[in-house]
Amino acid sequence: MSTLKEKKVVLGSYTAGSGLKAALAMKPNEVIQQLIDSGLRGRGGAGFPTGLKWRFAANQKDPVKSVICNADEGEPGTFKDRVLLIDHIEKVLDGMAIAAYAIGAKEGYIYLRGEYTHMISALEAQMEKYNKKKLPFEFRLSLRMGAGAYVCGEEFALIESMNGNRGEPRNKPPFPVQKGYLEKPTLVNNVETYATVSHILVKGADWFAGLGTDKSKGTKIFSISGDVERPGVYEFEMGVKLSEILEFAGAKDTKSVQVGGFSGINVAKDQFDRPVAFGELPPGGSIIVFNKDRDMLKVLKNMLEFFEEESCGQCTPCREGTYQLLKGINMIERGEKSVKYFKELVTLCEVMKDSAKCGLGQSVPNPFLSIVENFKDEILYK
Ligand SMILES: Cc1cc2nc3c(=O)[nH]c(=O)nc-3n(C[C@H](O)[C@H](O)[C@H](O)COP(=O)(O)O)c2cc1C
Ligand code: SF4
Repeated sequence: MSTLKEKKVVLGSYTAGSGLKAALAMKPNEVIQQLIDSGLRGRGGAGFPTGLKWRFAANQKDPVKSVICNADEGEPGTFKDRVLLIDHIEKVLDGMAIAAYAIGAKEGYIYLRGEYTHMISALEAQMEKYNKKKLPFEFRLSLRMGAGAYVCGEEFALIESMNGNRGEPRNKPPFPVQKGYLEKPTLVNNVETYATVSHILVKGADWFAGLGTDKSKGTKIFSISGDVERPGVYEFEMGVKLSEILEFAGAKDTKSVQVGGFSGINVAKDQFDRPVAFGELPPGGSIIVFNKDRDMLKVLKNMLEFFEEESCGQCTPCREGTYQLLKGINMIERGEKSVKYFKELVTLCEVMKDSAKCGLGQSVPNPFLSIVENFKDEILYK
């Protein structure tokens, strides 16, 4: 089974239980303050400050609360959470227990991607073992399975599916920390976020805040795939240049790189020296490399087909928008529409960004606009 390939050993090794032990030596609000001081931002994509989210959850008066580990990992090209769950489960479960202690939750759930059925028995065994630990607070872990919908990685769609409803995003507020699973306060964090919390509790907020950049502290784990000699799961310090990542993974004759998965942006050669960090190239979990032989029109169509298929259909800008973008690009390919028509698709993208209900519809324009901008000649004028 694959293990992390680290550029520098930063997070490093971890002794099972050590993060939780450090947390239990503090009061719950001190644990949360550690996370605030560390500058940790969620590793599931949006980058919300983890400590602040935990404080909102802790401040909820309702005594029934839960923590959820978002292991839906549906973003194409992302497989780092799978590696964490298989090879580093002790960090993830400790992170969930630390969260439960900090916010006062009694239940913890791992929501696992529907396609990861091969991991069920090992995960259940680990969780059962954890449930037998004698903790100084009540906490019980269990596993919930997704059914293969990408949108169910969105926190409210995930919660709705756990509630037994259609997995669809809801309007916010109220946020999950206010009204989530079973309409009770619910903390949702990514697998990597929980794993990172365990390290921060052991090594301290200052250590973590000393890594990375001003706005992006610590390290980040990336799944690297596509046209590289050494695909796999890598850990880099935030702020690493994309060119360094490419060199490390053995990319040759690279034409462009999709940073942050399909919902991220396409980066052309002249931008390879930019850093990967919040506020720069998006530090999502996935980096997909395309070499000089790739047809970027085919790549774009593949992405749009994915989004059209995965749109939950609840709101018009996304349901109709993804359909129209795909239809438009097919027509441009067949020479049936003009460049003027393409400009209308750009306007449609702006509408989608502003008015789609959730991150799925809001992000479809990212690959569309960046790929067409980077490869205008190849896509529009060939
Ligand atoms: C369409 C869509 C899919 C998502 N998929 C995931 C996912 O697979 N895993 C994940 O952790 N977050 C995913 N998210 C982000 C979650 O909604 C949420 O922000 C995240 O789980 C919060 O955890 P964090 O603060 O630790 O990042 C997705 C969001 C959207 C809009
Ligand atoms: S943006 Fe797309 S996925 Fe999100 S709620 Fe609207 S239709 Fe559903």
